[in-house]
Amino acid sequence: MQGRIVPANAEWIAEAGQMIRSGALVAFPTETVYGLGADATNGEAVARIFEAKGRPTFNPLIVHVLELEQAVIIGTFSPMARRLTEAFWPGPLTLVVPRAATCDVSDLVSAGLPTVALRSPNHPVPRALLSEARRPLAAPSANRSGHVSATSAEHVAADIGNKAALILDGGPTTLGLESTVVSVVDEAPVLLRPGSLTVEAIEGVIGGRIVRREEAGTHLTSPGQLASHYAPRARLRLNAHDWEPEEAVLAFGAVSERPAHAFINLSTSGDLVEAAAHLFAALRTLDASGAKSIAATPVPPTGLGEAINDRLKRAAAPRS
Ligand code: TXA
Ligand code: MG
Repeated sequence: MQGRIVPANAEWIAEAGQMIRSGALVAFPTETVYGLGADATNGEAVARIFEAKGRPTFNPLIVHVLELEQAVIIGTFSPMARRLTEAFWPGPLTLVVPRAATCDVSDLVSAGLPTVALRSPNHPVPRALLSEARRPLAAPSANRSGHVSATSAEHVAADIGNKAALILDGGPTTLGLESTVVSVVDEAPVLLRPGSLTVEAIEGVIGGRIVRREEAGTHLTSPGQLASHYAPRARLRLNAHDWEPEEAVLAFGAVSERPAHAFINLSTSGDLVEAAAHLFAALRTLDASGAKSIAATPVPPTGLGEAINDRLKRAAAPRS
């Protein structure tokens, strides 16, 4: 069953919608490249995307929605952001905007950032899938980390086929290049990733030159740095085997609970998918507990553990 390529017809899209709702990964075409999708509101399903991609770090993912109406529940759209969606949605434009108070998308999708990337695909298959799943879909390009994006169902199957429950075959993608990513967090839009939608088209709507990523503040310059953007106020102590009662504890696996200022176990059964799903929310909660120090017990460096440890190390690094 795993990685089965099926025609993207109404029956299979309905089946895929059910699978998404039950937490599975489904690969699907878009007008740009194929995506590996999961229910964006299901943290464990999102964690499985990172596992499938084999990334050593958590990179924020794009959330696919049908309409602006659905997007404004997830993100906050400024008048400028709205203008861009009116001009280019549905289509190959991804907008990075602040997470809204009503956002029900997993923290892991944003890799702990206070922002979220949204796009409305202009392709009948993901649109039908979004209707069937009735959930926003988190979907990065359907390739293993470091490989090129897949533009056909066969490429997906060859690269990460065994990770998707189903691969919806919609033929080769028409644009073949990823969406253009624009941040509209601050007043002026910033071009984070050039892509299928041309800079000229965007500048026509903005009415001027768009700021390039390299020219914006350091907080936007690279995905790696992006991930270090959210750091707890509390000091984070890694590989802790013991703790003081006034410390907050971020535990993993079979750790017996002893007095602590606050205590969260990411996964008592030692499941890395479950741990990844809860990581960012747990860091926030422990930080909000007011403890001056958070003691993190060891997480094995295998599978998703590599990305979890990467994130913990960044959060533990001295502030610049
Ligand atoms: O065409 C596309 O955009 C395809 C199809 C499947 O939609 N998706 C895609 O996703 O290319 P991915 O994960 O391979 O690339 C997402 C890009 C990354 O460069 C990531 O850093 C950026 O979007 N991104 C996502 N969320 C972000 C955020 N909150 N802040 C800044 N950048 C973000
Ligand atoms: Mg990609």
